[in-house]
Parts: sequence; structure tokens; C-alpha cells
Amino acid sequence: MSETEGWFLQELETRGVSRRDFMGFCAAMAGVLALPRTAAARIAAEIQKTEKPVLVWLEFQDCCGNSESFLRASRPTAAEIVLDTLSVDYHETIMAAAGHQAHETLFKTVKERPGKYLVVVEGSIPTGAGGAYCTIGGRSALEIAREVCGKAAATIAMGTCATFGGLPAAAPNPTGALGVADAVPGVKNLINLSACPANVENLTALFVYFLTFKHWPPLDAWRRPLFAYGKSIHDNCERRAHFDAGQYTEAWGDEGHRTGYCLYKMGCKGPVTFQNCPNVRWNGGTSWPIGCGHPCIGCAEPDFWDKMTPFYKHLPGVPGFGVASDVDKVGLWAAVGVGAAFAAHGFLSLAQRYRHSEHHPAAREKAEEAKRRAEDEAKNNADPGQKGGAS
Ligand code: SF4
Ligand code: F3S
Repeated sequence: MSETEGWFLQELETRGVSRRDFMGFCAAMAGVLALPRTAAARIAAEIQKTEKPVLVWLEFQDCCGNSESFLRASRPTAAEIVLDTLSVDYHETIMAAAGHQAHETLFKTVKERPGKYLVVVEGSIPTGAGGAYCTIGGRSALEIAREVCGKAAATIAMGTCATFGGLPAAAPNPTGALGVADAVPGVKNLINLSACPANVENLTALFVYFLTFKHWPPLDAWRRPLFAYGKSIHDNCERRAHFDAGQYTEAWGDEGHRTGYCLYKMGCKGPVTFQNCPNVRWNGGTSWPIGCGHPCIGCAEPDFWDKMTPFYKHLPGVPGFGVASDVDKVGLWAAVGVGAAFAAHGFLSLAQRYRHSEHHPAAREKAEEAKRRAEDEAKNNADPGQKGGAS
């Protein structure tokens, strides 16, 4: 048994986590990662062999919600031990050191381990007034982010502020707040975990994937892991059958609300929001916003403070709403018009994504690559002789 393996098993024992609990955790992680259950054995084997990756955690314009999510005040679990396999060298909120001493630790890691450490960024990065809105140890957040993320092996933007700018970037964005992709152009291996805050289950699953497969998982156009952001809230929602049947909550506390009817008319943005909340849930898997009777406000999507408000107004463009006056009529519309509704949702979502793609470097890169591929394909299709000659 290697020293690392010994350390890990000893840690399980010290914290009272049984082997059975640990295997259960690995199976649950396989589920979050959308891998077959058989992957649990490989996850368990790889995690036990792993060496501690070094992690630094930067906090800029934020409310500390992602650190809270990371620290999760519940009893020690296998997930905590996995997160503890990370050697967190710098996290200004939780580390004992403070001031210059703490700052030295951060830049020592950057200097001594270039390309070998991971960085988590929490909070947006203000660029207005030469970066003066957020400074740490006399340096601007922008300067620190560019240096620390620029030399990291990978950067994880945790939460919607670090990912897309979040609340600080909401109009009129007085501080010129940006997410990491825009503030640190060209940053290598950037992974976005959007949401307000990001779910620690997804952060844990991301590390488990990396520790198991030694590379990062496939990402969407916003650089979010597909295992967590590949499907809309609406696709997996427990109230979806009510949406399909035309059964909607019409007012807070009405019979539909008490029965668990669909929250679409109360402003639910689940049809245009992508995250695994219905499956993974929150607070140790106990519940999630829609499960508690509140509409999804789209917190995982870019510019949600501007684009998803008013939060309690339903999405536009779906035929039937505002016309049908009773459940039967809505039900009739739902029966014949549900395809159109999904087309409308899909269109809205696509339009939203397209609009953002003009401004988001990661999405722009993908769009340019897709365009190049389409042009190459068109060229090959237009000239089969040339294609044949080249092959
Ligand atoms: Fe669930 Fe919202 Fe979709 Fe209704 S509109 S099914 S509450 S995600
Ligand atoms: Fe956010 Fe909607 Fe999930 S509000 S936490 S994406 S259900």
C-alpha cells in the first residue's frame, strides 16, 4: 500500500466513514457524473491513489456564498475527505494566517509551482477605476487574477459572479465587474460552475472526475461541465407532468400551489436554465427551489439578474398563456400545443445563448470553430473531386 493510499484509508477511519459509506459515495458520484454504476470501483481505486493537488482560492467581489457551500457545515462525510485531498494553500476567509503573511503564501505557490496548482475564483472581478474597487494587499483583483490564474494548471470559476459577473455586473454595473473568462483573456483550462451559489456536489464531482480520469470533463459552450449543465431544469423537473397536463399554480398558496402544480405562471425560468438541481438538490440532497414551491430564477445562466427579471413574471412567447381562463382550456392547449411550447422554449434558450455568444470569449471561440468546420465541410461537399484527391 502506498503512503498516499494509507493516508486516505486512515482518514476514512479517523472520521468514522466506513468503507461501505465510501463506496456509496463513489456510486453517488458516478451518478452525478452520469457514468454507469460500474465506474464507482474505478473512482474508489483512483481516489485512494491520488496525490494531493495544491489549490488556492481567490475571493473578490462576492458574498462568500460559494465558500459557505464549500465548507458545508454538516457532519464529516466521504465527500469532505475527497475535498480534503486538496491541499488548500490559500483561502483568505478560512486560513489562520492573515495580511502579508497570507499573501506571501499565495505568491509563493504561484512562484514555486507554476502550471502545477489549481485555482478556484469566487466573486466577480471589477475592472472600473483601474481596478480600484477591489484591492488586496495593495494589488487589484484584476492584477491578482491575471497573475494567479495565468500560471495555474486549471481555473475553476465558482458561482455566477466569477463565471458571468453575477449581481455585481447587473445593470448599470458600476464597477465594471466581469467573470474570469472576460477579465483574464486566454486563461487556460477554465471551468465554469455557475449558480448562486454553485452546488458543492458539482465541485466535488468535478474533482472526483479529475482525480479519476486525470483530465477535465467535457464542457458546454459556456465552459460548464456537461454532467451538471447538460440538461435544462425543465427536462428533469418533478412538476413536469403538471406542465404537460396544463396544471399550473395561479397564485401563491392556491390549491395548485399546495398540490405541487407547475410554477411556470409564477415566473419559473426552468425551461431556459441548465443545471442538475432537480437530481442533485441542495443541503445534502434534502430539497431544491422548485421542490420548496418557489420558481427557478435562472441563477445558473449568464446575466440572470438582468435577463431573468422580473423573477415572478412568466417567460414570454408561449402560446396559450393569458388567453386560456381555466385549467381545461390550458389543458387542451397543452395537449395540442406542447410541441410548440417546447419549440418556443428552445428558441428562447437558443436566442439567449446566441446573444451572449457575441460577447463571451469561450462561446465565441466555439462559434468560430463551428463556423470554420461548416465552411470546410461546405467546401468539401461543393468539390467532391478535391475531397477525393486529398484523401
Ligand atoms: Fe418545473 Fe418550472 Fe418546468 Fe414547471 S416550468 S415543469 S415548475 S421547471
Ligand atoms: Fe438556481 Fe434554478 Fe437551481 S434558481 S439553484 S438554477 S433551480
